[in-house]
Amino acid sequence: MSSEHYAMLHTGQKMPLVGLGTWKSEAGQVKEAVKYALGVGYRHIDCATAYSNEAEIGDALQENIGADKPIKRGEVFVTSKLWNTKHHPEDVEPALKKSLQDLKLDYLDLYLMHWPHAFERGDNLFPKNPDGTMRYDYIDYKETWKAMEKLVAKGLVKAIGLSNFNSQQIDDIINIASVKPAVLQVECHPYLAQNELIAHCHQRGLVVTAYSPLGSPDRMWKHPDEPVLLEEPEIKKLAEKYGKSPAQILLGWQVSRKVAVIPKSVTPERILQNLQVFDFNLTGEEMSYIGRLNKNWRYIVPMVTVGGKLVARDAGHPLYPFNVPY
Ligand code: A2P
Repeated sequence: MSSEHYAMLHTGQKMPLVGLGTWKSEAGQVKEAVKYALGVGYRHIDCATAYSNEAEIGDALQENIGADKPIKRGEVFVTSKLWNTKHHPEDVEPALKKSLQDLKLDYLDLYLMHWPHAFERGDNLFPKNPDGTMRYDYIDYKETWKAMEKLVAKGLVKAIGLSNFNSQQIDDIINIASVKPAVLQVECHPYLAQNELIAHCHQRGLVVTAYSPLGSPDRMWKHPDEPVLLEEPEIKKLAEKYGKSPAQILLGWQVSRKVAVIPKSVTPERILQNLQVFDFNLTGEEMSYIGRLNKNWRYIVPMVTVGGKLVARDAGHPLYPFNVPY
């Protein structure tokens, strides 16, 4: 793997800059998607307990990875995430072990805390009150982090990191960490360019992974007036210039600035296309120009229906990450 294809984590691990995203990849589709992706050269798969599809992904991994299989375990980078209902320190190792069991792996390359705020403990992923609001917990994420560090010491995960944390919360973790976070995974694309947060992470030795790098066109809770990233005229112009698709321009921009991407797809042509983003070079001017399309537009704001109305789900939680500029 040439150095332009991966980011080097502070642990010395090489994380391929393009991984397959699996959020919203449905049962009955995700196994084929992962098999196809591994077949065409993906070596980074992004998973999470909350996506409720790890067992099926595990079937694809098991069929393709192993001493007697086409791909050796050490050649693939697999990430999963600790869900909000498992922040209690006693719950962290069992939660990781459940992911390992589902994914049919002995270890993970990276385990992320999915969000800074916790939900009520238990096996219901989305515990709710009768009125539709969430049932929260108020566990300090630093306690959760300390439990995640033990997973590294036990050899169950090679690196640990954060997802959806803001800059202050990242620093809170760094200040108490014996094992530093290796990666921050956040929503990121030209409409939410995250320039300050990326600089903050790079200064502290964290690699950033962009989720929803295509603007997550298949998600629920769509706002009727929202801008459509894949239809952005400036991106389309560049796509024409380079003979690439708009998706490839969006991904190429990120990998050129050493931000990893995990585009989700269950469509073979798109899975292949999303890996072919290293054969063109945006100019310096085009790189900054794309960064200036930023409008701090966040597509991924979890919502719930309360009293018949769709409202932001977690914004009132004291550890909700998006109430500060970055
Ligand atoms: P599908 O899975 O049906 O192929 P994001 O990673 O930003 O969440 O975006 C995922 C969405 O983008 C999915 O709807 C996926 O569709 C679609 N998608 C993935 N790759 C491409 C591509 N190269 N061109 C257009 N749409 C894509």
